[in-house]
Amino acid sequence: MADSGLRIGAVVPGNPFVLAPMDGYTDLPFRRICRDRGAGLCFTEMIPVMALIHGAKSAARHLRLEKGEGPVGAQIAGHDPVLMARAARMLQESGADFVDVNAGCPSRRVTNGGAGAALLSDLALLADILRAVRASISIGLTLKVRSGPTTDRIVLDDVARIASDTGVDAVTIHPRTRAQRFGGRADWELIARFKERCRLTVIGNGDVTSADDGMRMMRRTGCDGVMVGRGAVGNPWIFGELAAAYEGKAAPKRPNRAELYRTIMEHFDLVVDYLDGDERTAARVFRKHLSRYVRGMPGAVQVRRCMCRVLSRESLVRVISQVFVEEGV
Ligand SMILES: Cc1cc2nc3c(=O)[nH]c(=O)nc-3n(C[C@H](O)[C@H](O)[C@H](O)COP(=O)(O)O)c2cc1C
Repeated sequence: MADSGLRIGAVVPGNPFVLAPMDGYTDLPFRRICRDRGAGLCFTEMIPVMALIHGAKSAARHLRLEKGEGPVGAQIAGHDPVLMARAARMLQESGADFVDVNAGCPSRRVTNGGAGAALLSDLALLADILRAVRASISIGLTLKVRSGPTTDRIVLDDVARIASDTGVDAVTIHPRTRAQRFGGRADWELIARFKERCRLTVIGNGDVTSADDGMRMMRRTGCDGVMVGRGAVGNPWIFGELAAAYEGKAAPKRPNRAELYRTIMEHFDLVVDYLDGDERTAARVFRKHLSRYVRGMPGAVQVRRCMCRVLSRESLVRVISQVFVEEGV
């Protein structure tokens, strides 16, 4: 395998393709599905520090890591340097390979408390947080940012200086502003400029939905790693395709229907395990993945219409048989 080119502290992933932190998606089961299909590195969903420190069940679940899972960055969201440092320490003790500070989430639920992308409007606080977290852990520290609060206030030059001064090991850049949310295109030129101007390890992110996109992002920006979010939901095979393209190998075959069916069932069973056997909750959690797995297939609309009837493993099989059974899968 070609040298990954991506290094985060002591962590050297097998390849530079990274599953993005996605709240409600990148739990242990989905990370496993992506890792087994080629992701070099994965992030947890964002973990709110208050929930973590107060021992909320949801936070405990988010930070559940599997032995031998491979490199995982645990992401925290918060705004108080002391609490962020405490939470980071807890993550280190739980076995995370590195800690990621969320300074990119534009959701009001997060920014109203001064966390996520709100930190891009208070760079002194961001620096305090990074300094405090750095001092509290011996594992790697990464930072995930958007490009700034608004298009007329791009703060990536300041972010580069702060990240270098506070001992951050790598920065992920999603080059949309907080105000843009998911509108428009990610401006990859901003990643290129950031990479040109500092010596930090950079993970580029935004709008990569194919191996071609990933290769183009690497060529155009010089980034060390490529992070994929929405493009991996329903398509975890993108990581194997990216890795093959990076190594100059032929593209692996797209999954056939049998492989797709197997993956859906494997993913569902992993979610059931993760939820300690609670099939009903697993079914509810899994619906969003299911609708992406079958997207574009004949019968997908019908599956989406029946989604509310997915309440157990048995009903999942019944609903997806509309897409798979005629083919004898
Ligand atoms: C449903 C969803 C949840 C997300 N949750 C998080 C999160 O918890 N932490 C974070 O830093 N970014 C989060 N993001 C942003 C992604 O990590 C990523 O930066 C963004 O989706 C752009 O990448 P993409 O074009 O590959 O999807 C989320 C995005 C989506 C769509």
